Amino acid sequence: MNRSIHWIVAVVISCGLLIASGAGLAAGAPETAESTNSPKKKEKAKPQKAPAPSAPAPQKSILPGDNRARTTSLAKDGIHDPASPAMQLLQDPSQALSAIPAGQWGEVDWMKAIREGVIKPFASLNGKGNMDVLDMDIILTNTKTMPHVRFPHESHTRWLACTNCHPDVFIAKKGENVMNMDAIFRGRFCGTCHGRVAFSVYICQRCHSIPHENSPPKWW
Ligand code: HEC
Ligand code: HEC
Ligand code: HEC
Repeated sequence: MNRSIHWIVAVVISCGLLIASGAGLAAGAPETAESTNSPKKKEKAKPQKAPAPSAPAPQKSILPGDNRARTTSLAKDGIHDPASPAMQLLQDPSQALSAIPAGQWGEVDWMKAIREGVIKPFASLNGKGNMDVLDMDIILTNTKTMPHVRFPHESHTRWLACTNCHPDVFIAKKGENVMNMDAIFRGRFCGTCHGRVAFSVYICQRCHSIPHENSPPKWW
């Protein structure tokens, strides 16, 4: 007697489970259909599509000394008044810079200009004397995963005296100057001139020119 009750209970429970799972399946199908078709869900799906390609906003350069000025005429630069009679007196940058070699990004490449003899700076105010050129590269290796930095004395001493840098900007001893980009971006060390009177600090590879085993391969 006890046994047959057990059987009945077992049969009832398993039937119940079957029905329940069947119902689950039956309910499951329309639910998935609903999830793709219901207007509610569709609304949710929309924002994912939202970043559809829109016309790119005119890019503002991050480069100080950006030389789009090279190609933009003064009349169209949004700064000068094209109707002003003074416009006739101003030389367009495209004309003024036409003889001066450009770097990779269109910026003036002053080193190329001096090497090609396009410019010949005086060594002194009265034009007398010669620059005290020192041919000595310093390789700076505290650069993490960026390529190492080659500091060429030769390039610098064509324009600058030793005292422009030593001892105020750099102690004249390898390894004595603790530098990093934060300080450089704030206008110390190389940033005393680069980004101000010399090429931009954003042209990383002109300083970080020596790849090493932990740096990415040349990207320039
Ligand atoms: C004018 C030269 C110059 C330019 C341009 C330059 N760097 Fe540097 N960078 C240095 C010098 C010098 C050091 C210090 C090296 C040392 O002390 O051995 C340095 C160090 C670094 C370091 C390691 C120290 C730190 O600050 O974390 C990183 C990373 C770095 N530079 C990234 C960059 C990136 C990225 C750019 C371009 C956005 C850049 N640098 C542009 C000269 C330059
Ligand atoms: C534009 C800046 C600049 C100018 C100009 C400059 N130097 Fe340097 N000099 C440096 C830097 C940067 C270092 C490397 C410092 C470091 O490694 O921390 C250096 C290092 C030196 C060192 C140490 C080398 C070593 O192996 O320890 C000597 C010596 C030196 N310069 C002499 C001169 C002389 C002489 C002149 C002029 C003919 C001159 N420098 C002009 C920036 C300059
Ligand atoms: C006192 C000013 C001054 C300082 C400080 C200075 N530079 Fe320069 N640097 C110049 C000038 C000026 C030029 C030439 C103009 C240009 O190329 O924009 C130049 C050019 C260069 C060039 C191009 C060389 C070539 O032959 O093409 C490199 C590389 C360079 N600097 C690296 C550095 C690094 C690295 C530091 C810091 C360790 C540094 N400079 C510090 C003024 C400076």
